Amino acid sequence: MNPKNVGVIKDADGVGEVGNIACGDVMWLYIKIGENEKGEKVIKDIKFKTFGCVAAIATSSKITELAKGKTIEEALKITKDEVAKSLGGLPPVKMHCSLLATDALKEAIYDYLTKNNLPVPEELKKEHERIKKEKKFVEERFKDFVEEQREMTRAEEREKES
Ligand code: FES
Repeated sequence: MNPKNVGVIKDADGVGEVGNIACGDVMWLYIKIGENEKGEKVIKDIKFKTFGCVAAIATSSKITELAKGKTIEEALKITKDEVAKSLGGLPPVKMHCSLLATDALKEAIYDYLTKNNLPVPEELKKEHERIKKEKKFVEERFKDFVEEQREMTRAEEREKES
């Protein structure tokens, strides 16, 4: 009912854009990276835009709360089961929705690491390849919907910049 951290981040350090092959819902997740007192890279700020069902919005909101303040390594360990559990559980038929949130976070981290020429863990590279394939499938199958949502998100990004 009250999603947290909704919106876009101007000058985000990493952006994850994902689509759900089961239903065609799409999500954007933005991260801003900072450092903690130990000098480790941490997720300083995080926001999302989800065009999907209530479970997708709830899991998106929850992952932003779970990931905020975590190091990159810790954030990559957040699982869809952990997200669902933090929400008090999800109906089995809605579990696929929680994948959108964890995938978007992985993609935003992948985007940040590659943009900054930082080493990408092997597991994350594999996940990126899977997510990329699924996104292509969603874009082809739900082309008009994805384009419409993408244009709305870009418009909001432009508005933030002005
Ligand atoms: S039905 Fe599409 S993400 Fe939930």
